[in-house]
Amino acid sequence: MSLIQPPHRSGPSDAAVHIRRLRRSDRAEFLAHLLRLDGESRRMRFGSAVNDGFLTRYAQSTLGPGGMAKGLFIDRTLRGVAELREIDSPMPEAAFSLEPLWQGQGYGTRLFSSLVDGARNAALPHFKIQCLRDNVAMQRIARRHEAELQFAEGEVVAELRHPGGDFASLLREASEEHFARSLAAADRALYRIAAEAGVDLRLRRA
Ligand SMILES: CC(C)(COP(=O)(O)OP(=O)(O)OC[C@H]1O[C@@H](n2cnc3c(N)ncnc32)[C@H](O)[C@@H]1OP(=O)(O)O)[C@@H](O)C(=O)NCCC(=O)NCCS
Repeated sequence: MSLIQPPHRSGPSDAAVHIRRLRRSDRAEFLAHLLRLDGESRRMRFGSAVNDGFLTRYAQSTLGPGGMAKGLFIDRTLRGVAELREIDSPMPEAAFSLEPLWQGQGYGTRLFSSLVDGARNAALPHFKIQCLRDNVAMQRIARRHEAELQFAEGEVVAELRHPGGDFASLLREASEEHFARSLAAADRALYRIAAEAGVDLRLRRA
């Protein structure tokens, strides 16, 4: 198996894009991401129209124990999330959200591959994805990962089985996490040096 992720379409440089696991402390950023989803993306993600109040409650109950989530950051901002819920159940469920501006550029495929690595490394042999029938992109990604698709009224259920983790999947996930930690450490150092020089970088970014 290749150690290199499949190529993706052009967009920001690779250095500006990274994926890492999300933790409870990421909830505020997760909510900000969900609130940036437009009506159509919310419908595709949650199966029906949902308002900001729903998303606020959802974010508060997510990223805890019993789940796994990966975040895709572009220029340090969370733009996409892959979630695996109820990982203790016989069939955990995966869900994906990408902000509209970043859809159709291969990021969903990258997130999907990263979630599969996470599931494999956590010894979770399968998961399912439920999506609306008109969600062609989601179905294409699932098919590409050899999922079995079942079409029911209004929705599609994709079941994905994968082998246990191996050296390549462990190395890919460890590299992602290591890159993210290095980036965070570099950011902290930069903010400290700037603060010592009397410059508040947070104000500059805002
Ligand atoms: C569904 C979603 C995760 C897909 O991610 P993405 O980054 O937009 O998709 P990608 O660019 O990786 O493209 C994946 C495939 O779908 C195709 N595709 C992308 N957008 C498409 C569209 N609007 N219509 C048809 N096909 C499309 C791509 O050509 C690609 O096909 P290929 O693998 O055969 O080359 C993302 O669009 C999203 O979050 N949408 C809103 C929420 C949602 O639908 N969640 C899923 C339900 S849980």
